Amino acid sequence: MKRTFSTDEAIKRWNLHAESFTARYTKYGDKSRIVALNPTIFSLMGEVNGKQVLDAGCGEGYLSRLLADKGAEVTAVDYSDKMLEIADERTPSEARIHYYYGNCENLDFLEGEQFDMIVSNMVILDLEDYQSALREMYRLLKPGGTFIFSILHPCFITPNSGWIRNDQGEKSSWKVDRYFHEGVYDQRFPFGTGDPIVWYHRTLTSYFKAILRAGFIVEDLVEPKPSKEILRKYPELKEDLNCADFVVFKLGK
Ligand SMILES: C[S@@+](CC[C@H](N)C(=O)[O-])C[C@H]1O[C@@H](n2cnc3c(N)ncnc32)[C@H](O)[C@@H]1O
Repeated sequence: MKRTFSTDEAIKRWNLHAESFTARYTKYGDKSRIVALNPTIFSLMGEVNGKQVLDAGCGEGYLSRLLADKGAEVTAVDYSDKMLEIADERTPSEARIHYYYGNCENLDFLEGEQFDMIVSNMVILDLEDYQSALREMYRLLKPGGTFIFSILHPCFITPNSGWIRNDQGEKSSWKVDRYFHEGVYDQRFPFGTGDPIVWYHRTLTSYFKAILRAGFIVEDLVEPKPSKEILRKYPELKEDLNCADFVVFKLGK
């Protein structure tokens, strides 16, 4: 039977793990953000100076702060009080960021068609009702606006995916399993070792259809992979050349 997870329970987990999840964050986020997500998101966003930007599911707010540093007027929303508390502590009072408590599935306290850009970094995979969230993002964007969101790559990071190891315990290949399972599953983050986090898995087809049904056009899609420069700095990321950990969508209204 398909399990469902109430929003209250998901919020409870984010509140519980907010400190440990964000403890490894630098000004630029954690390593995945530094090497893969930030360069992709910023290149897809282009110029943000003077733009009205929504950071949907802002967490501790590093991306909001980087966007504000680049001159954007930032509205940031999260449904974890604890994450917002940490965001508040880490954000200088003069930064042009307005933090709000809210659930991305329904942000009716925000007026429609007010944002030039919306970014949602590793959040859509947390949502029980991702279709409603996509419709909300569409409502909030100005005509001609852009919505960029990143998720774990659903073709490679699936429930029960993981490394197959040889007799010496070394990583030999990455196993994908239960790709067509749609719904909630528990994962430990960092993989296999850290705190239990709730994620939802959907197939690429489901994401694609939900994007189109919300009214968006797909303008671009990036599967980040480490550059030569990044590999020189972080040689351990060579294993990421096997398959993509993330996919980042750029959608237009
Ligand atoms: C993986 S963290 C990412 C945070 C931030 N975007 C970043 O990249 O550091 C996911 C965040 O999304 C928030 N979140 C999950 N579902 C949400 C929802 N339905 N509405 C608002 N925030 C949500 C969680 O509280 C958490 O702060």
